[in-house]
Amino acid sequence: MSKQRVLSGVQPTGNLHLGNYLGAIRNWVEIQQEYDNFFCVVDLHAITVPHNPKELADNTLKMGALYLACGIDLDCSTIFVQSHVKAHSELTWLLNCITPLNWLERMIQFKEKAVKQGENVSVGLLDYPVLMAADILLYDADKVPVGEDQKQHLELTRDIAVRINDKFGKKKQPILKLPEPMIRKQGARVMSLTDGTKKMSKSDPSELSRISLLDSPDEIKRKIKKCKTDPVKGLTFDDPERPECNNLLTLYQLLSGKTKEAVATECQDMGWGQFKPLLTETTIEALKPIQDKYQEIMDNRDYLNSLLKDGADQAAEVANNTLSRVQNALGFLTVDN
Ligand code: AMP
Ligand code: TRP
Repeated sequence: MSKQRVLSGVQPTGNLHLGNYLGAIRNWVEIQQEYDNFFCVVDLHAITVPHNPKELADNTLKMGALYLACGIDLDCSTIFVQSHVKAHSELTWLLNCITPLNWLERMIQFKEKAVKQGENVSVGLLDYPVLMAADILLYDADKVPVGEDQKQHLELTRDIAVRINDKFGKKKQPILKLPEPMIRKQGARVMSLTDGTKKMSKSDPSELSRISLLDSPDEIKRKIKKCKTDPVKGLTFDDPERPECNNLLTLYQLLSGKTKEAVATECQDMGWGQFKPLLTETTIEALKPIQDKYQEIMDNRDYLNSLLKDGADQAAEVANNTLSRVQNALGFLTVDN
């Protein structure tokens, strides 16, 4: 039996933080051997909010390097840049024309981002989930590993696929495959270091709220030193009154690779003065191999560029096939080559 297909992506905006790593990429790495994987750098999504053209290409390349540095293995995974495979934009248009406007208006992430932006909300921001649906549906993905915040977008993707299949498909031969979200419990929602009730986010104006994968040991030390805690001695998981405590213990657990039980026992009598240096050391150690590998890859940009080109060629083969299937179902005139 052939392997099931996985597709996922991250936007090339800013540096990856521990939320992106623990909520998404680390899971990609852990499961990749069991699947046939496509991981894209979603640069078209990155321009749905105002962006700096001088930084886009560089950030895209860096994100590709980070995928590799985090352990994506090219023997079972394809890494590519979304805008290099034209079918993503084309399928988005076709899906746009069958997606009801009110499905998009109720997307939580759109509403949150629109409020943050005020006046200048682009059509692209509203359309963001349809582009994401195209990303997934083009590859007939079975599984989509993401953090908790993307669940609603996955539901929308399924709704769009069902609508296309119902309207244009034959009963026994669906046009598009329905994907399943793959959301891990642990790490699905890494919280801000400055407020344990808010998720760690690239768009938080305070750098102190997140640890980036490329932060230096000194930066990591400073951020953990300043992070929000509480006055209680003894550290415990899952106390709703202590969101920061739960978040920091979870970070320690995931980065140390220990079990939850082992961490609960180890930290039950600790105060913050003892725990913070421990978390600092663990974080620095967990990130060091990623940072070293990242440097190595970035020192060899030609290799990285050629790898992304090969990735785009492989991805385009699959994506163009699906695009043709949808075009045919929708009744477009085909050109004879
Ligand atoms: P983004 O930064 O929005 O491009 O997100 C990239 C991936 O990281 C998605 O799969 C998100 O669900 C995941 N992610 C982002 N922030 C967090 C967080 N604070 N905790 C867990 N996962 C996250
Ligand atoms: N919207 C996702 C995020 O912010 C990124 C993304 C775009 C994505 N296309 C995707 C994730 C396809 C999974 C599959 O995290």
